Amino acid sequence: MFFSDPSKRNTFQRRISDGDLVIVYERHDTMKAVKVRSGSDFQNRFGVFKHSDWVGRPFGSKVTSHKGGFVHLLAPTPELWTLVLSHRTQILYVADISLVVTYLEIVPGCVVLESGTGSGSLTTSLARAVAPSGRVHTFDFHEQRAALAREDFEKNGLSSLITVSVRDIQGEGFPDEFSGAADSVFLDLPQPWLAMPSVARMLKQDGIVCSFSPCIEQVQRSCETLRSKFTDIRTFEILLRTYEIREEKVKGDREDAGSPVGSLPRKRRQTSTVEGTYLSMERTHSVMAKPCSETKGHTGYLTFARLACI
Ligand SMILES: C[S@@+](CC[C@H](N)C(=O)[O-])C[C@H]1O[C@@H](n2cnc3c(N)ncnc32)[C@H](O)[C@@H]1O
Repeated sequence: MFFSDPSKRNTFQRRISDGDLVIVYERHDTMKAVKVRSGSDFQNRFGVFKHSDWVGRPFGSKVTSHKGGFVHLLAPTPELWTLVLSHRTQILYVADISLVVTYLEIVPGCVVLESGTGSGSLTTSLARAVAPSGRVHTFDFHEQRAALAREDFEKNGLSSLITVSVRDIQGEGFPDEFSGAADSVFLDLPQPWLAMPSVARMLKQDGIVCSFSPCIEQVQRSCETLRSKFTDIRTFEILLRTYEIREEKVKGDREDAGSPVGSLPRKRRQTSTVEGTYLSMERTHSVMAKPCSETKGHTGYLTFARLACI
């Protein structure tokens, strides 16, 4: 169950119950969504963990296995869900999602239309952004994907915020019942320009559309179509760089090794090398900041446009 109601976000006031969804966190790149069931076990390389030991603990607790290994039990959030969900399609990740939610100006109470639903990664963040009184209507023409996404949203307690429908949005457009009702529309479709005339009809005056496309040729065609009815057309590519920060022993041959540092941070010194940036902290240790090697490159282009007032 996600905490989509902002008034219930303080997860430390809530304890884990039988039937809750928890994110079992080993490290930033190793975590799993698990439904708590008294009588069941969770196993990983650190040992066997009894679910019954988790019940009654606050979210965020560190729990130990029979061998003394540990994991943390985190409350599910859209950001964590994006990292653990079943990939039935390509998905949007947090860097793109954060720009989408911000530039679509989504706030509680908004009505958002989306297509395609895919694996529901973006939909989950959209739902939290519109909660508790808004609604996300998401459409996918693939019946099985739509059904699995609906199941996930139900399992995660989001069905009051999301409706999932099967529809070919490029062929038929969005349903007429949403004409003039959408604050924003998001498209992750192979030929988004085919859906733009319908998007223009769905948006409220001044509403915003965003289209995600992996190829620049798709972006060009979308922009051509957008120019007739939209203004403020902008395209972005988000490249996220993650850093690893750790303290290291200074090597003897480093020039600044041993340089006396009196009061920090006034006398911190910074040196850049091929491995990263060093900040000398004291005689024997430096803090090293190194870009992570697994940093993701191009995901796609995000094109935003605002419905022009005629
Ligand atoms: C890349 S996935 C979307 C992923 C999603 N944004 C996420 O973050 O999980 C694209 C989806 O669009 C759907 N799709 C493709 N063409 C469509 C169309 N004409 N109408 C509706 N859905 C369509 C596909 O079935 C697929 O599930």
